[in-house]
Amino acid sequence: MIGEVLVVFSIVSTIILVAVECWKVYLNETKLKAFHHQTSIPVFGRALHLLGKNNEEIMESFCQDHDDLTYIWVGPILLFHVSSPEDFQQILTSDKCLKKAFVYEFLYNRTGILTSEPSIWKEHRRALNPTLGPKMVKRFIPIFNDKSRKMVDLMERKLGSKIDMQRTMFKAAAETIMTASFGLNWPMQNKRGDDIHDLIIFILEGLQKRVQRVWLWNPVYKFTQEYKRNIVKFLAFYRFNRSALETKKMQLAEKLEHGEDELAIAKENHNQNYLQKCLQLEFEQKWTDLEVCEEMDTIFVGSVDTSATTICGITLMLAIHQEYQERVVDEMREIFEDVDEPVTNEHLARMTFLELVIKESIRHFPIAPFIGRECTADFEINGGVIPKGSQIFLNVLRMNKNPKFYGENAHVFYPERFLPENCSNWHPYLYVPFSAGPRNCIGARYAWASLKIAMAYILRRFKLTTHLKMQDIVIKPELLLKIGNEDPIRLERREW
Ligand code: HEM
Repeated sequence: MIGEVLVVFSIVSTIILVAVECWKVYLNETKLKAFHHQTSIPVFGRALHLLGKNNEEIMESFCQDHDDLTYIWVGPILLFHVSSPEDFQQILTSDKCLKKAFVYEFLYNRTGILTSEPSIWKEHRRALNPTLGPKMVKRFIPIFNDKSRKMVDLMERKLGSKIDMQRTMFKAAAETIMTASFGLNWPMQNKRGDDIHDLIIFILEGLQKRVQRVWLWNPVYKFTQEYKRNIVKFLAFYRFNRSALETKKMQLAEKLEHGEDELAIAKENHNQNYLQKCLQLEFEQKWTDLEVCEEMDTIFVGSVDTSATTICGITLMLAIHQEYQERVVDEMREIFEDVDEPVTNEHLARMTFLELVIKESIRHFPIAPFIGRECTADFEINGGVIPKGSQIFLNVLRMNKNPKFYGENAHVFYPERFLPENCSNWHPYLYVPFSAGPRNCIGARYAWASLKIAMAYILRRFKLTTHLKMQDIVIKPELLLKIGNEDPIRLERREW
């Protein structure tokens, strides 16, 4: 009996494998003919070439120094590599490429806007856009000031010694988003912030490991020890956000008992924050409790580590390039009289040199080095067709470093390249730090204001120094790009 089952199994598997191989040959010869590609072996494709490589090496190995669209097969999965602004534009603006690549499923979040299917995403994104729009960000400015001031007060303790900037910035960003977008005054620049930091870092590193191991891209992963370890951390993170949600619901109920309907008032005044909007939709029975929770997880993950890591890049660049640090501080001196003077919306518009520095830092260290999309219908591009179901990886890191686009000094830290006279003729999709098109970063405005305010507090209080030079920097181009050098910044008190 077992023998017969094995024979049937072998025949069926062989038929499937042969059919898939015939289908690949057909696609290679028809729709894919116009694109550059890597030759691959039957069944595995180029999967074996990807083993043991990090994300940047994976991307490099499949684009092989080509800026045109290239593709590879990994088993039955068709992966495209994109690194030119023209192709970025076509893909990021197409309705056929709104779906995120399958690797985003590893985040186990079905309805949050970062990862959801286009049909859910469209409705959620439309509802949530105003909660991070210009009017709301203006309202958040006092919060950004308070949290940044508290952050630099805590940083004073690290004068002259090592400081874990990533952790420090993470905790401040966590406290900020909880106050601004959840309406919860939970202190996070403390042990609780440390715990959440460690959880998120563990989760992101686990995801990274999975992405790098091609053989774990399928459901077999759920039977591994690694899955069990990761899921424990996911659950702990969910518990944290669920308790925040419960606290908020209790606060709302208490206010209602005293005759104050917080949600109705915010709706009437058109100033609902993220969580208020989610809860209103839940109470109207348009969204489920799970959808609210998943949006909370999304905004937390989307905002905190991204902002923290970006500040680490900016501060390191200014510590290495003292002349630029002095220019930013000179700008601050023109704007502010006092070291702790609160930053206003008007001040933000005047921080023009800081803005150039931030742009150039993000060019060197794009927090999302790769953006992944899935094609939901055959997509004609550059004389060929990306078939429905293909995975597309947009290589932001490669584009940002490419001398073809940025000139021979592409590797140099040179904020002036963003002066209007130097960048006005760039392709509009060359520099896309917050992605672009309809599925761009919903928090870009929030990020700009909060980054500038945090930097204004840091640079007025401290002079930043480092022993590192540009060539010593180790970057970890993972799901989120990080600087690998341990605690490179030293703080000295700045005479104001
Ligand atoms: C410097 C800081 C930030 C950078 C560089 C950044 C960059 C990005 C990028 C590149 C994407 C597209 C990701 C992808 O398609 O895979 C994205 C999406 C997103 N970001 Fe940001 N982000 C930052 C801060 C924030 C903040 C502060 C928030 C929230 C307040 C936020 C919330 C989100 C969300 C929810 C998405 C998914 C949007 C969608 O698919 O509709 N981000 N961000």
